[in-house]
Amino acid sequence: MSEVKESIRRLTEELKDHNYKYYVLAQPSISDREFDQKLKELEQLELAYPQFADPDSPTKKVGGEITSNFTTVTHSTPMLSLSNTYSKEELFDFDERVNRGLGGEKYEYVAELKFDGLAIALIYEQGKLLRAITRGDGTKGDEVTANVKTINRIPHQLKSPFPEKVEVRGEIFMHKAAFKRLNEQRLKAGLSGFANPRNTAAGTLKMQESSEVAKRPLDIFLYQLVDEGGVVHSHMESLDLIQSLGLPVSSESRTCNTIDEVWNFIDSWDEKRKDLSYEIDGVVVKLNNIRQQDELGFTAKSPRWAIAFKFETERVSTKLLSISYQVGRTGAVTPVANLQAVSLLGTTVKRASLHNADVIADLDVRIGDTVFVEKGGEIIPKIVDVDHQAADRADHPTEFIALCPECSTPLVRTEGEAAHYCPNRESCPPQIKGRIEHFIGRKAMDIDSLGEGKVDLLFSKGLLKRPSDLYQLKSDDLLGLSKSIVNEDTLEERLVSLQKKSVENILNGIEQSKKQIFEKVLFALGIRHVGETVAKKLARHFKNIDQLSSSSMEELVGINEIGDKIAQSVLEYFSKQENQDEIALLKEAGLNFVIEEKELSSNALEGKKIVVSGVFQKYGRNEIKAMIEDHGGSNVSSISKNTDILLAGENMGPAKKAKAEDLGVQIMDEDTFLELIDQN
Ligand code: IVH
Repeated sequence: MSEVKESIRRLTEELKDHNYKYYVLAQPSISDREFDQKLKELEQLELAYPQFADPDSPTKKVGGEITSNFTTVTHSTPMLSLSNTYSKEELFDFDERVNRGLGGEKYEYVAELKFDGLAIALIYEQGKLLRAITRGDGTKGDEVTANVKTINRIPHQLKSPFPEKVEVRGEIFMHKAAFKRLNEQRLKAGLSGFANPRNTAAGTLKMQESSEVAKRPLDIFLYQLVDEGGVVHSHMESLDLIQSLGLPVSSESRTCNTIDEVWNFIDSWDEKRKDLSYEIDGVVVKLNNIRQQDELGFTAKSPRWAIAFKFETERVSTKLLSISYQVGRTGAVTPVANLQAVSLLGTTVKRASLHNADVIADLDVRIGDTVFVEKGGEIIPKIVDVDHQAADRADHPTEFIALCPECSTPLVRTEGEAAHYCPNRESCPPQIKGRIEHFIGRKAMDIDSLGEGKVDLLFSKGLLKRPSDLYQLKSDDLLGLSKSIVNEDTLEERLVSLQKKSVENILNGIEQSKKQIFEKVLFALGIRHVGETVAKKLARHFKNIDQLSSSSMEELVGINEIGDKIAQSVLEYFSKQENQDEIALLKEAGLNFVIEEKELSSNALEGKKIVVSGVFQKYGRNEIKAMIEDHGGSNVSSISKNTDILLAGENMGPAKKAKAEDLGVQIMDEDTFLELIDQN
C-alpha cells in the first residue's frame, strides 16, 4: 500500500516538475507523449487509490505557470486544456462517451487544425484591443498586450458591428519560413539558433522590448469566442462571428457528421501538414452545438465535448559532438547533449537532454556516436537510440564528470538517486542564484520587480548571497549598478542597469513580499522535496515554523501524503545551523512564519457540494463559484449521488436537470441561492 502512495507522490512531483520546465522555462525535458503517458498512469492510480491523490495533482490542472516580468491578470473564465490521444481507438471511445452523454441525441463535430504555438486571450472593448493575456496557469496569465500589438494580423480595432465587450482566444505562432530566416540571421550574427518555431514564438512573446518583438514576425489564428451571453449556438457560428470582426480564423475547419468523417480529416492532415507554412501538432475535434457542449460540461481541467488528436513524432539521426553539464538550484547536475545540427519537422535541432548518468549508461551513448533524435511538436528533443553497431565508436563508455563544472567541487551521488549533486551549497554560483530566483518566484515571495537578470547583477556585485540579504538592500547600494546579461530564453543580450525608478520598484517589491502568507514563505525556503503542495500541507498542519522545526520523523510521516523522503529532507534542513540562522534573519526582516486563518463570510453552505450550471442573471458564473467557497461550500463539476445542490441558471442542458431529479439532488435557482447566503 505504501508503495502505491509513494508511486503517486513520485509521479505527482515529477509531473509538476515537467510542467514547470515546459511552461515556465520553455525548456521541456521529455516529449509530450511521455508526459501524457505518465499523466495517464497517475490518473489511473488516483482513480484506484483516491485517498492518496494530491489535491493539487497535475491531473486536475491545466498545467502552465506564469513567468515573472509581466503583470498577472486573472482570466474571465479559465483557459482550459484539452484531453488528448494518439490512437484511433481512443478517438472512437471519445465518440462513444459523447454519444452516451447526449443520450442518443443527434450531434455533429467540427474538426480543426491544432496550431502549434501558444494560447492567448484577446479582450476588446468598444472595438479596441484592450488586453492580451497568455494562458499562464489557466487561471491567471501574463499581460503581454504591448507585444501582441506588434503582430500585424491582429487588428487594434474590430470591424463593426462589434459587441461592446468581447473576448476571443486563439494561438500565436511563427511561420516555418520566418523561423528559418530568423535563425539564419542569428547564425550570421554569431548568435545560437532557436530550437523550433513554437519555442521561438513563446520566447518572443516573453521579451521585455516590444520593438524587438516587432522584428520577429508572429501570426495568429483565433478559435474560441468567450460567449457569456449565449449569442452563438454553434462553434461554427462563433468562428464566423470572429471572422466577421476582422480577426484571422483558419479556413480549414470542417463540420463532420460522423466520427469516421473526423478520422478521414485527421488522416489527410497527417500527410498534408508538411505542406503547410506553419506547424500543427494534431487535430482538435469539438462538438459543434453549444447547448450540447454545456450538457457534457467539463472535467477539472478540460471539456468533455472536445479532444485533441496528436500526430506521431518524427525521428532523425545525427552525431553527438559533446556533452555539457548544467548545475541547478539544488546542485543537481544535468547532462546536455550537443548535437550536429539536424532538421526535424522543419526545425533545427542542436541540443538534447540526457537527464542523468543512468540515462547515459542505459543508452551507452559516447561522444561521436550516431544518435537517433525524436521530438513531438514543441519539445526539446530527446535521444531515443544510439547506433551501437557503428565501426568508429569511442572505445570507452562515457564517464560522468567528477567535478562541478561551475566550482570544481567533487560531485556526490546518493545511493538510490539518479542525479549527481554538487555539494557546495554555500558558494557554487548557480546554486546560490538559483535559490534566490526560487525565493523571489511568483509562487514563493512573488518579488516580480527582480528577475533573473537583476539577481545575476546583484550576485555579481556581492550584494546577494542568501535570500535574507534582499531585506538589507538600500537604495544607495543599488543605484547605478549595471551589467550586460544574456537572456537564456531569448538569447537577447541586454544591459541591466539600475536607475532610480527600477531601484524604487525593487525595494517596493521586496517590502511588499513581507505580506506573503506562511505557506508561500515556507515554499520559498527551497527545502528539497517541499514543493508548493507539500509546503501548503506542512504550513496548515504545523501552523508556524517553530512547531515545524521541532517536529519529529514520526509526526511528519503521520501527515497524509508526507513520506519518508520528504520527512527526512525537512529534518535535515532544520538540523543545519546555517538554515536556522537564515530563518532568524528572515523573521527579523518581518516575514510571515505563522499561518493566518482565512475567515469565511459565513458557514451557510458548510460541507455542501454544489454543481453550477447554465447562465445567471445577477452574477457571472465565476462570481457565483467564488461565493460558494466564501460561504463554506465546495464546487464540483458533475452531478453524482454525493452532490447536494444543483444551482441552475438559464439554458441549462435538460440531461443535467433530469439526472439531478433522478438522483434526488436539490435544484436551486439564483435568487434562492442568494437569499440563502444573504446577498440579495
Ligand atoms: S480549443 C477549451 N482549438 O491546444 C478548449 N485549442 O491542448 C480550448 N490549440 O490550450 C482550446 N489549436 O493552446 C483549441 N483549434 C484549436 C487549437 C487549440 C491549438 C491549443 C491551445 C490549447 C491546447 C490544448
